[in-house]
Amino acid sequence: MGRVDGKVAIITGGASGFGAATAQLFANEGASVVVTDKNVKDGARVADEIGAAANFLELDVTKAEDWDRVVKDTMDRHGKIDILMNNAGVYGTGAPQDIETISLEEWRFVNDINLDGVFLGCRATIPAMAKSGGGSIINISSTAGIRGTAPLVAYGASKGAVRQLTKSVAQHCGRKGYKIRCNSIHPGMVRTPLGNDVLKLRWGDEEAGAAERLKAVPMGELGTVEDIAYATLFLASDESRHVSGTELLVEGGMLTGG
Ligand SMILES: NC(=O)c1ccc[n+]([C@@H]2O[C@H](COP(=O)([O-])OP(=O)(O)OC[C@H]3O[C@@H](n4cnc5c(N)ncnc54)[C@H](O)[C@@H]3O)[C@@H](O)[C@H]2O)c1
Repeated sequence: MGRVDGKVAIITGGASGFGAATAQLFANEGASVVVTDKNVKDGARVADEIGAAANFLELDVTKAEDWDRVVKDTMDRHGKIDILMNNAGVYGTGAPQDIETISLEEWRFVNDINLDGVFLGCRATIPAMAKSGGGSIINISSTAGIRGTAPLVAYGASKGAVRQLTKSVAQHCGRKGYKIRCNSIHPGMVRTPLGNDVLKLRWGDEEAGAAERLKAVPMGELGTVEDIAYATLFLASDESRHVSGTELLVEGGMLTGG
């Protein structure tokens, strides 16, 4: 018996990194997975590789009408939605991003995807999830959502807001009796395309950046996409049935400061 047997999951940013790894793990554990991304080519490939347990739908998380279409399609196809992983994200365009140099366009670009995208996802999915008898929403924030991130000011602010939004959604859904839980995950550094871009931006070179980042991790290793997928699986499954509004750090002890 799989850990999410018979459940239906929507995953955003499923074409790459955490989203792709979690889609595969959910399918291995018995779920039907709706892989979504604005990157159609890679998203469709991920769903193909998973096989019959997955289908791909194009979704730009910043577009309310895309969300409505994906929720409707999933309800038509599966009759319910049990899990939503709000995972799609960007660190920025590569333009300067400290508080003195960041442009308003850059600020809006990052917050539009990382924050508004999560807001739209929760808002569009909660009614269908409530109708399905409850479910679990997992929002991918970051360690950057907890501590200062001077070189990536928009990214940190967007992830901090996702952490807070998560708690309000958890409280709302709990009080309404929807049986919908909502939690955030806070990864440290993982060398996905996004992770590597951040290393390059901050330290000028990916390998030097990885070595530098490692110094801040007491466990002495960077995380993997599977580390995030397994944390998401726990929060998606009924094993975490009494967990809502929490923030799960998956960062090798980085924020202990030790
Ligand atoms: N990799 C890390 O070190 C790290 C650390 C902390 C948090 N995170 C967060 O984890 C999440 C996943 O990141 P990842 O490392 O797997 O990155 P990734 O670059 O491998 O994947 C991100 C995916 O999001 C998609 N995406 C971007 N904009 C989108 C939009 N408007 N609509 C739909 N999809 C869109 C991309 O096409 C891509 O497939 C992000 O929210 C990121 O901020 C990553």
